[in-house]
Amino acid sequence: MTIEPSVETDDRDVHLAGDATWWRQAAVYQIYPRSFADADGDGIGDIAGITDRVPYLRDLGIDAVWLSPFYPSELADGGYDVADYRDVDPRLGTLADFDRMLRALHRVGIRVIVDIVPNHSSDRHEWFQAALAADPGSPERARYIFRDGRGPDGAEPPTDWESAFGGPAWERVADGQWYFHNFAVEQPDFDWSNREVREDFLTTLRFWSDRGVDGFRIDVAHMLTKDLTEPLPMRAELAEIPIDGRHPITDRDDVHEVYAEWRQVFDSYDPPRTAVAEAWVARDRRQRYASAEGLGQAFNFDLLEADFDAAQFRAIVADNIDLAESSGSSTTWVLSNHDVVRHATRYGLPDPDRAPDGRPTLKHGNEWLLSKGKSPRLDREQGLRRARAATLFVLGLPGSAYLYQGEELGLHEVVEIDGRDRQDPTYFRSPGVDIGRDGCRVPLPWTREGESFGFGAGGAHLPQPAWFGAASVEAEEEDPHSTLVLYRAALALRHELQSAEHLEWIETGDDDVLSFSRPGGWEIVTNFGDQSYDLRGAEVLIASAEIVGGSLPPAATAWIARME
Ligand code: GLC
Repeated sequence: MTIEPSVETDDRDVHLAGDATWWRQAAVYQIYPRSFADADGDGIGDIAGITDRVPYLRDLGIDAVWLSPFYPSELADGGYDVADYRDVDPRLGTLADFDRMLRALHRVGIRVIVDIVPNHSSDRHEWFQAALAADPGSPERARYIFRDGRGPDGAEPPTDWESAFGGPAWERVADGQWYFHNFAVEQPDFDWSNREVREDFLTTLRFWSDRGVDGFRIDVAHMLTKDLTEPLPMRAELAEIPIDGRHPITDRDDVHEVYAEWRQVFDSYDPPRTAVAEAWVARDRRQRYASAEGLGQAFNFDLLEADFDAAQFRAIVADNIDLAESSGSSTTWVLSNHDVVRHATRYGLPDPDRAPDGRPTLKHGNEWLLSKGKSPRLDREQGLRRARAATLFVLGLPGSAYLYQGEELGLHEVVEIDGRDRQDPTYFRSPGVDIGRDGCRVPLPWTREGESFGFGAGGAHLPQPAWFGAASVEAEEEDPHSTLVLYRAALALRHELQSAEHLEWIETGDDDVLSFSRPGGWEIVTNFGDQSYDLRGAEVLIASAEIVGGSLPPAATAWIARME
């Protein structure tokens, strides 16, 4: 593998201005900066590491990158505990490094989306430190959610609510008050009824927009506003309250007032800045987040919850296309991200094992990995075959596709991480229940061998398994059948073929085979079953597995050109 010395000397100047609709059909690649590439050799990926790999990103053929948080953080939650929203973590670089990276990406036509974490800050944020130093009832405390406790001396938390990461959702401070944290203790929730909080986020959005950032991914977009009028309900009561827009803490209708204000900021730029909501909400409430008056687009996580199954895939696709149409947005497709078990691994688990607790499949949790110890009954080969097929299916759909770093290498979840090396608070806060999300956040392998497989000269902050070498960029670049080669070819072809037009389903006569056509004679055929499917002489443009004798093998997708 060769790393080109400097992309700044690249004289191609791609003008990104002017196109307000680029996000609608974009292939967006999620970078988890601390695990992407480490330029300064401190074991933690950094901004300069991303800049060094711009040629790699260009060759991959993506339209945009989304950077998970790179802000100053104590890393209590992998950077989603932000201590300063308008700076770069010194371990990852400086604002000047950020500007350099942004220019280098823009120069090769790649847009940049950054992550905004508005529900909570880090407990190291200067506002939270000021709140701790101030008195109960002070303006400093009013930016967060502080309450007195129950019981004669207030020693009981205000409610018995649980945090999303396990354990209690209230933490007591030195003077006896309690503060609310929906996630880790180090992630105090802001009080979004406070005008100062609202103004500060408008400042943050302008800060990054002024630097040239193209869009934002909004973390936990369905929380932010809360109605914590007393008396507060207890956990059992809270669970009974319908999530219909008036729930005390989640998916409240008034959160959209916040996003309407954000939209004014987005639209004050040319082209308007974009946003995509991470909102884990019911199907029929998702489009509020995607509306043009609000964030504009929302993640659809349905495929994360689905089996590799034709009927489930078809229903999800049809439903989401309808939903997007109703909001005027475009659909979003996600098979993997930094919060879930990589799709190559999910699809390699025997179906009955995937949901030991009866849930359709995992979301944040990967309890089944834990319950099966370090060697789950995992068919890695089958998982990867299916993952390649699912990806090629998704890349053929209208709408934007969000890809997660490492999936282009066909990486599996790293299950063999020792407890002492784990970092994810979900592992520590739910002993024995949730193994956490570290397994999809292991630093990427760039080379077959060598220190941290080319990630950096100073080792990797999460241990990489021996099999990473064979899945490295270097190894895959040399193998014409590798997943990296498949992604590059598919993304290049998608660039030529993709349009905003919807798909037409083609009835295949086989319940396990889905097929749809797109404009320009482009057809996508996916075989979810275990029998080969005859492609009837069609010209194959690209396939996720070898086509033998004109037949699409089991667990495979082909893009074909329709014979006129
Ligand atoms: C989102 C992020 C996740 C983080 C959580 C709290 O779900 O994707 O990684 O832990 O929010 O910020």
